[in-house]
Amino acid sequence: MTTTNRIALSSDHAAIALRQAIARHIAAKGWEVVDIGPTTPESTHYPAHGEAAARLVASGDCRLGIILCGTGQGIMMAANKVRGIRCGVCCEPFSARMIRQHNDANMLSLGARVVGEGLALEIVDAFLGAEFEGGRHATRVDMITALES
Ligand code: RB5
Repeated sequence: MTTTNRIALSSDHAAIALRQAIARHIAAKGWEVVDIGPTTPESTHYPAHGEAAARLVASGDCRLGIILCGTGQGIMMAANKVRGIRCGVCCEPFSARMIRQHNDANMLSLGARVVGEGLALEIVDAFLGAEFEGGRHATRVDMITALES
């Protein structure tokens, strides 16, 4: 199984429409989207959805993940509790590019009540279009990983 092209998506109830727009956008660009919902608008709990997507990334089933809630903050906090996950909330493309290049982030979190669809898609493109630069940044990412043990 190759995970190179697989990307996990999840959200809580506050971000279903934006998550589905992102799924369509990245699928059209050739990503294999593993969208684990939810699909119905009942109020739900963002930690469970953040964890579920994070486990797909941490296990290697998916290369990257994108998660969303109202602010992007709560679901990011949950995802970052899963060993091996480095997830940042981004509200603009510069940070989304930098968390890949410098922090080797493997998940991006977005706030559906913070950014509109057009900006969100630009943030996603910046995240997916960047690669980790390694070098001195690898030393620092290794220091983050060391905090897990
Ligand atoms: C749900 O109302 C809201 O709290 C959630 O989507 C998120 O913003 C939490 O961080």
